[in-house]
Amino acid sequence: MVREVLAGLEIRPDRLYVDGTIGEGGHAVAILSRITGVGELWGFDRDPMVLQTAAARLAPFTSHFRLFHRSYARVGEVLEEAGRGGAAGILLDLGLSSYSLQFSGRGFSFQRDEPLDMRFDPLSPGPTGAQLLNTLPQKEIERIFRDFGEEPRAPALARRVCELRRERPWRTTGQLVDLVLSVLGRRPGSRVHPATRVFQALRIAVNRELEELAKFLEGAPHWLEPEGRLVIISYHSLEDRLVKQRFLSWEKAGVMRRLTKKPLTPGVEEVRQNPRARSAKLRVAEKI
Ligand SMILES: C[S@@+](CC[C@H](N)C(=O)[O-])C[C@H]1O[C@@H](n2cnc3c(N)ncnc32)[C@H](O)[C@@H]1O
Repeated sequence: MVREVLAGLEIRPDRLYVDGTIGEGGHAVAILSRITGVGELWGFDRDPMVLQTAAARLAPFTSHFRLFHRSYARVGEVLEEAGRGGAAGILLDLGLSSYSLQFSGRGFSFQRDEPLDMRFDPLSPGPTGAQLLNTLPQKEIERIFRDFGEEPRAPALARRVCELRRERPWRTTGQLVDLVLSVLGRRPGSRVHPATRVFQALRIAVNRELEELAKFLEGAPHWLEPEGRLVIISYHSLEDRLVKQRFLSWEKAGVMRRLTKKPLTPGVEEVRQNPRARSAKLRVAEKI
């Protein structure tokens, strides 16, 4: 949704922009191409591997970008450390990068047999996905599958996770795929793999993704200049609900104005080219 992101940020070439989830730098390249003079883009990511990819891709824009191995929830700290009052725009494109899904070796994909790690930041203390499945009470695992994966068979899946860990500890994605298939079976005709929801749920729990987003939303209006823009793309109903509710409460408090009353969604062509975009919802707000 690059066009919608650029329109939402309404780039002014000589200002500071923050990409809180720089990933492989796709949006960043588009933003940097519109930045000139003293304009800058600061990119954040929790994944050090992804930051290396972004650094290589953004190299031609040398003097205009800086990268930070930090959570987007800490944008305020970084602005303060640098003595900057606020940004002209902040972008969040939540979730997982295609790069990590395919190449991280950290178990984000059910299509490869890898260690069930799932941390965006492998340097963080954990816990990993496997550690959560090996240690959490059954009820908590059920809640994760139900709330973060919207998985109707969450109770049966959680029960089986706890039965199996008594025989052999959880270690790999392959074990989890086998479990899901043994409980849910294959869905004939469905293009979505039955393990999709469980993998998404566990990743959200490992990275405390909703907590990070809530922390970010607490501070974001303070990190923007007047008329600064906030653009958030979410892929999960719970994320979008947090964003929607915050945007509404800011508008009521006279802090930010909503520029999208209803979220923007990708067009048919974009979803055809990138099926992972199918659940994307983009919302924009402007600081008053
Ligand atoms: C969907 S990708 C972003 C893709 C990017 N917009 C692009 O065009 O290439 C999401 C990225 O956000 C990162 N991420 C997730 N949670 C984060 C957090 N709390 N702080 C910073 N980065 C985070 C992930 O590591 C991933 O690289």
